[in-house]
Amino acid sequence: MKNILVTGGAGFIGSAFVRHMVATYPDYQIICFDKLTYAGNLDNLLSVSDETNYRFEHGDIADRECVASVLRTYNIDTIVNFAAESHVDRSILDPDAFIHTDVVGAYILLDEGRKHGIGRFCHVSTDEVYGDIESGYSTEDDRFLPNSPYAASKAGGELMVRAYQITYAMDTVITRGSNTYGPYQYPEKLIPFFTTEALDDRPLPLYGDGKQIRDWLYVDDHARGVDVVLHCGESGEAYNLAGENQRHNISVTEDILELLQKPKSLIKHVPDREGHDRRYAMSAAKARQLGWRCKFNFEAGLQATVRWYVENEWWWRKIKTGEYLDYYRQQYAKRLAAVD
Ligand code: NAD
Ligand code: DAU
Repeated sequence: MKNILVTGGAGFIGSAFVRHMVATYPDYQIICFDKLTYAGNLDNLLSVSDETNYRFEHGDIADRECVASVLRTYNIDTIVNFAAESHVDRSILDPDAFIHTDVVGAYILLDEGRKHGIGRFCHVSTDEVYGDIESGYSTEDDRFLPNSPYAASKAGGELMVRAYQITYAMDTVITRGSNTYGPYQYPEKLIPFFTTEALDDRPLPLYGDGKQIRDWLYVDDHARGVDVVLHCGESGEAYNLAGENQRHNISVTEDILELLQKPKSLIKHVPDREGHDRRYAMSAAKARQLGWRCKFNFEAGLQATVRWYVENEWWWRKIKTGEYLDYYRQQYAKRLAAVD
């Protein structure tokens, strides 16, 4: 591996991966390729922008010519695909962009990668492909039962990766991460959304009874997990990157309020997300065999994350304007009005 194309590298997890790779592997060229959608943000990459082993290219993974050109220009031998539409609620409001990027985009990247003769293709996926897990833990060979347009689009992308591995003998690996949190996460997702809203003493719209369970993974652990699978994963295999920190949403929300010393009265139980999965839980045993371990427990990770949002208003205040407010109104106005 020498010239690595990191798609979606200006997003939350992709940028943590780029920062990690640029610092850890000075001999690699890390080329971040990103469409800079509402979720892409070059502020996430300020700390590496002057590094000699880092480049940024603006482009869409579903744009064949653009992908072919970047593969040629940088003589890319490895692709790590983080690029995706990633927010479940937005996929319920409008699935279009999810099919474009998570399915068609993944296909175009694979196809151009194959024609260019790349080595490894590492595809970043999610525990949501397994669907709602009432009890026990998903393992990598479990069937896919995705329930939201987001989850279905990620499952579709994964199936294209599988097809390219089997049909064209491409060297592929897949990671399936659990709910990730940490600095630089777009404030539409539970932890950054509730933290920044609570800082402004605004209501926290908790869906339904708040007893849904998510398994929380600190972003730096996720980024290192992708690095381990990229370097050590067996071709054709998928690896669960599970945080093994299961929490009820209500308990995460109360922890955030306690860290900020804000009252529980900010919590508003609003009408539930449509098709809301109650629980995700995966076994991380297979990734552990590659030597991957989480370094952060949830309490330490949440504390560090909340502190980061408190100290970095410059990063999130300018995001919570314009398009963000349109989305906020569409997603929450009726829900909050229903419980007023
Ligand atoms: P994000 O929404 O923060 O970032 C997505 C990035 O992809 C943005 O920079 C965006 O500009 C870019 N992008 C979107 N469409 C593109 C396109 N067509 N071409 C090029 N770039 C495009 O997402 P994230 O939370 O960092 O998630 C990254 C990956 O990890 C996704 O594939 C997601 O499905 C997966 N994942 C996320 C989580 C999580 O909890 N956030 C957990 C498991 C897996
Ligand atoms: O599980 C991995 C997935 O985690 C990733 O693949 C997705 O990209 C990522 O967005 C995340 O999906 P979730 O839907 O689980 O994350 P979100 O932060 O949107 O929600 C976490 C939980 O909190 C979920 O049960 C819904 C609930 N929630 C979320 C929001 C935004 C609320 O109750 N109220 C809210 O306003």
